[in-house]
Amino acid sequence: MDLTQLLAQYPHEENRLIDLLLDIQKQKNNHFISEQEIQMVAKHIGVSEAKVCSVISFYTLLSFHPRGRYVIQICRDIPCHINHSASIVGTLEQLLGIQMGQTTQNGLFSLEYSSCLGHCDAPPSMRIDGRTYVHLTPDKVKAIISEYRGRTP
Ligand code: FES
Repeated sequence: MDLTQLLAQYPHEENRLIDLLLDIQKQKNNHFISEQEIQMVAKHIGVSEAKVCSVISFYTLLSFHPRGRYVIQICRDIPCHINHSASIVGTLEQLLGIQMGQTTQNGLFSLEYSSCLGHCDAPPSMRIDGRTYVHLTPDKVKAIISEYRGRTP
């Protein structure tokens, strides 16, 4: 579905802005909102481009920059931090050969920090493609990444 068709499904209401932006990102394998999309969304909703940009800046699920097919977001809030989220980050960086904030050369994975993912009772946690994984250990992370690599055609 192209952007014009997607916009047609949304009312000209500011309270649907986040849903619309998430939907646009979901349609693309590189999970970001382009400059042209920002302009079209602003016009459709009837808000300024600055307003759209401020929403994208605020929500960690949204991005101005192209990212990998799978965006891995690791919680860095206190409950996860004190339950060894750093070892999860280290395992992911080693497995993928990239640092936090980077995307693998094949465009498959991006690594990002996130604020609380809402699973503070089961730390440490991370989210990939809208799915949250909890009680992580380095071995569990290796199995999860292997599963995602296996999905790639
Ligand atoms: S602090 Fe990590 S999920 Fe809430």
